[in-house]
Amino acid sequence: MGFTRARNAVLAAGMIVGLSSCQTNPPQEALKPLPPFAAISADDQHATMHRGMNILGADPIWRDPAGARFHPEHFGRLRDAGFDTVRINLHAFAHTDASGAIDPAWFATLDRLLNTALYDGLTVILDEHDDIPCERDIAACGPRLQTVWDQLARRYKDYPNRLVFEMLNEPHGKLTADVWNAMLRQILAVIRASNPERNVIIGPSGWTSIDQLATFDLPEDDRHIIATVHYYWPMRFTHQGAFWVQETANLSGVTWGSDAEIANLNKDFDGVKAWGDAHHRPIFLGEFGAYEKGDMNSRVRYISAVARAAEAHGFSWAYWQFDSDFIAYDMSRDDWVGPIRRALAPQ
Ligand code: GLC
Repeated sequence: MGFTRARNAVLAAGMIVGLSSCQTNPPQEALKPLPPFAAISADDQHATMHRGMNILGADPIWRDPAGARFHPEHFGRLRDAGFDTVRINLHAFAHTDASGAIDPAWFATLDRLLNTALYDGLTVILDEHDDIPCERDIAACGPRLQTVWDQLARRYKDYPNRLVFEMLNEPHGKLTADVWNAMLRQILAVIRASNPERNVIIGPSGWTSIDQLATFDLPEDDRHIIATVHYYWPMRFTHQGAFWVQETANLSGVTWGSDAEIANLNKDFDGVKAWGDAHHRPIFLGEFGAYEKGDMNSRVRYISAVARAAEAHGFSWAYWQFDSDFIAYDMSRDDWVGPIRRALAPQ
């Protein structure tokens, strides 16, 4: 990408690029500044997103940068393997004080990651992944999300258009369709106050499941929105042995890949595409994957089939996930899980 030298200088200088107020400490080597924000349509933005990866959700880096599993070089690895987009899974609620102010140390970590990813030519999605704290208490969730988004949006308002915001991962529980359809407008107003034209990714309530698109109501007059869905069907295959899903926790030996299963996948995506066409919204498949308790051959068939079906339907996508579980990358070897990488991004 030609950004490597600049990226290394950024890292060496440990400074923030793109925030002129923070450029107090000129680097040793001239840096090409990140371009300023320029509005781009949701369709044009989406057309550049292609293949993506969920990253950093469970990484110790957020509490202790010295304990990071993810290193800046991994952005380059992702890029070189054919990924264009990273969806950074943020748990901002855990890093606010009693007034709701986000911890400056957490922001500094995010600045460094964001700058490096942008220098590496990636599209970066900041995904507020606090759906679990939101599932039981709407009265607390709404204001907290607004406060967090006010800070995130203002901090990064001048960043290039390759930075995209994702309002909330998998709204569910008390965030029913009616509640969420109202709440998303309030949060969008907070984001729009500082970012009138940045593209924002929003998905339906009900865990962002594709069958919930029918209940999803976006503001018609805001055209800078990319719709998102997650796809883990059939759960009995993708979540077999997953302790956090009661219905499938005790399953094992479930395979995937029959003609009927592949036909179902395509039928499901036909429905998603029809919704996107009817509402004139591009579709980002923000998560899909199969837990490692399933057999590798079936997982590879599934991951490859979902990724190719998404592409054939015109959706961009991001695999769940790089590290932690469902892994595409093995941190212990510091290398890709070959079959998963090849299924996602055949070269
Ligand atoms: C959702 C959850 C995450 C879980 C994944 C797969 O993104 O937030 O915790 O691992 O789905 O079940």
